Amino acid sequence: MKVKKAVIPAAGFGTRFLPATKVVPKELLPIVDKPTIQYIMEEVASAGIEEVILITGREKGSIEDHFDTSTELENHLRKKGRNDLLKIVQEISEMVTLVSVRQKEPLGLGHAILCAKKIVGQEPFAVLLGDDLIDAKVPCIRQMMEVYQEMEGGLLAIQKVPKPETPLYGIIKGKKVGDRVYSVEEMVEKPEPGKAPSNLAIIGRYILPPQIFDILENVQPDRRGEIQLTDGLRELRREVPIYGYEFLGDRYDAGDKLGYLQANLSFGLRHPELGPKLKKYLKNITL
Ligand code: UTP
Repeated sequence: MKVKKAVIPAAGFGTRFLPATKVVPKELLPIVDKPTIQYIMEEVASAGIEEVILITGREKGSIEDHFDTSTELENHLRKKGRNDLLKIVQEISEMVTLVSVRQKEPLGLGHAILCAKKIVGQEPFAVLLGDDLIDAKVPCIRQMMEVYQEMEGGLLAIQKVPKPETPLYGIIKGKKVGDRVYSVEEMVEKPEPGKAPSNLAIIGRYILPPQIFDILENVQPDRRGEIQLTDGLRELRREVPIYGYEFLGDRYDAGDKLGYLQANLSFGLRHPELGPKLKKYLKNITL
């Protein structure tokens, strides 16, 4: 079945990025000159997904504003003859059809996805985390949709990570069943390196079947009162097969200070105008 809808959870508090995220959502912090979530929206649009369900929370209204038309700004740019900027601004609001749902309390990623239940309905859908940036020749979610055409069940983006980093991720145990595709046998949340079943980490892109909603409704909250997606996925695996797809591309956790700086450097160095100047600057500071 074709994937036509994408859910972008963006309701977290972004505590790793405080105080920057006290009033500015981390999803709007810029990577060079575009907010992180705009790169993600562009990824969705390039995959031909028609409708995006944005999960937002308090203080997150500016994300919706960013993707809305801005008549005053557009009039101003028109008056000033800045058609180049006008085009950039207009393209943002035309990218996708956006529906937003409030997650009243950030009760975990599983709970955030559950907020999209009514709007998604009975069809498979994509999930892209609002702070997970993937830089790839073919956008990651498009790679996944191509692979998903030949399968049913769930598909998770996975990536090899250094062993000491397994406590930061959900890690899969899987059997390779195709080119970059693994059949998932087990998922362990944040295992110590010695206990990790592999070094294949689950990254913020998923294609999920609608059965996940009923499952998430019944998942017990964890110790912190959060409904974890991984718990739901483990349950889902009893009903349908789950696969991991080792995508091609570089991933940055833009919700983490180091990941955010790395993304800015990487995108900055490739920026047609800024790249050469930034390279020169970096050469001098390393001296
Ligand atoms: P994170 O765990 O990275 O977000 O969730 P967070 O809770 O904002 O981060 P820290 O640890 O406090 O810095 C991954 C994605 O899921 C969303 C977040 O907004 C982020 O895009 N999320 C998380 C929700 O939408 N709701 C939640 O309850 C939790």
